[in-house]
Amino acid sequence: MKVLYVCTELFPLLKTGGLGDVGAALPPALRDAGCDVRVLLPGFPGIRAGVRPGRLPPATPLALPDGDGPRLASLGLPQPPSLQPATLPGSGLAAYVLDVRALFDRPGNPYEDAHGDNGIRFALLGWAAACLGLGLDPHWQPDVVHCHDWHTGLAPLYLRQMALPGPPRAATVFTVHNLAYQGLFPRSLFGQLGLPDHLFGIDGVEFWDQVSFMKAGLQFADRITTVSPTYAREILGAEQGCGLDGLLRARSGVVSGILNGVDYQTWSPAHDPVLAQPYDWDSLENKGRAKAELQRKMGLQVRPDAMVVGVVSRLTEQKGLHLVEAVANELVAMGGQLAVLGAGDAPLEQAFLRAAARHPGQIAVDIGYNEPLAHAIMAGADAILVPSRFEPCGLTQLYGLRYGTLPLAHRVGGLADTVVDATARTLQAGQATGFVFDEFTTQALRGALRRAFELHAHPDSWANVQRTAMRQRFDWHEAAAQYVALYRSLQPHAD
Ligand code: ADP
Ligand code: GLC
Repeated sequence: MKVLYVCTELFPLLKTGGLGDVGAALPPALRDAGCDVRVLLPGFPGIRAGVRPGRLPPATPLALPDGDGPRLASLGLPQPPSLQPATLPGSGLAAYVLDVRALFDRPGNPYEDAHGDNGIRFALLGWAAACLGLGLDPHWQPDVVHCHDWHTGLAPLYLRQMALPGPPRAATVFTVHNLAYQGLFPRSLFGQLGLPDHLFGIDGVEFWDQVSFMKAGLQFADRITTVSPTYAREILGAEQGCGLDGLLRARSGVVSGILNGVDYQTWSPAHDPVLAQPYDWDSLENKGRAKAELQRKMGLQVRPDAMVVGVVSRLTEQKGLHLVEAVANELVAMGGQLAVLGAGDAPLEQAFLRAAARHPGQIAVDIGYNEPLAHAIMAGADAILVPSRFEPCGLTQLYGLRYGTLPLAHRVGGLADTVVDATARTLQAGQATGFVFDEFTTQALRGALRRAFELHAHPDSWANVQRTAMRQRFDWHEAAAQYVALYRSLQPHAD
């Protein structure tokens, strides 16, 4: 079974969030599950710099045809777009890099629309995926094109549009990592996409008089998945459906949730290079050293008894961190410390910086993106806060579990599927792995935080929960097996 995996992020080449972690781990897991996997990526600077020349045919770049897709001729590009054959570092998987320097060779956040041409940039990515799905590479034609998030949403549509009666086209799977980011563009873009007029309508890509790439993916993919079973149910309702719940309900027969996994090579306290002394569930005493190192590194008072609560997050409305900011004073009053690493919305950044200024030595805030510090917090903190308003899967709580850093999370999406609240019953049964609150309010978060402090005051009970948490496994092999079963249901005769 040949699978083309299409995404925009792949750790360590390019990552803005969990999508990059998934892009790094799922393709090799699919290969291990028996698929012949290739990856299609846009040629952002980090990606072009990180890949090696391709080992497999094609040996030369594939020119992207002008035709029923985005109007290439009208773009006035200095060079025609092409797909460069490449090899991914680490996994050694074959990749195609969409090389259009004039559109992708820009530093900074890959989704920033500084030139106002994001619509055409990501339409080209979808077009490239569709062309490969229809046999652009004479050496390799996928059975399945697996697309991720709105950036790839036009691929299923272009594939359907171009498929000729007769030869089978590649099947398409569209995975939603976050329904809130939809790839909405002005109506004027539609004319540049090379699509028939009727597709700018309710059964096409039109969404409140705009073009929606997310809607294109949801409308035209053969199967839709999202990254946890609970989120797969939640997006069928108005509250989490972001205006697309009607379409999702209409297509609910092809919607399913497959929980993300963890790359335990990268995220494990047993061999994390940021740790002077590794630890595991049977050597938890060494976690104390990671805690002292973190406190020193972030300028917190080195107090072994303090419950250190960590945050590693994009600072956006999704993540519910205004709730944390509201309980920060109380957390310190209860004897805790707060270690925040994040970047995003300026008002939230400022609010956390003000909290740190109010409580020097007890609240530390690092604004920015810092991979080693993310690991140091995951290892050194006692608890990790994930109070998200919504969370399609969430990886930080899964990393927290592996590091014995107990998640304190809102019962929503993937958080609900992965953290077991510490109640009298779950503690007794040895099943508790963290603290979960139901209402999305400061009051509810405060309640969960108090319960965490109470348990933390009983080191033996706390250590028991840590050990249970650390033994949980969210394996990519499990997720890959579910994706392969899905692919097979679409291509019953492919090998
Ligand atoms: P999302 O993809 O919605 O941001 P996830 O929990 O799925 O949420 O994934 C977040 C990923 O991004 C994790 O790998 C986390 O460690 C990382 N991350 C988030 N913010 C930062 C930051 N400021 N510095 C380093 N890593 C970060
Ligand atoms: C998105 C979601 C997050 C998920 C990640 C990887 O960024 O916000 O919940 O874990 O994608 O699937």
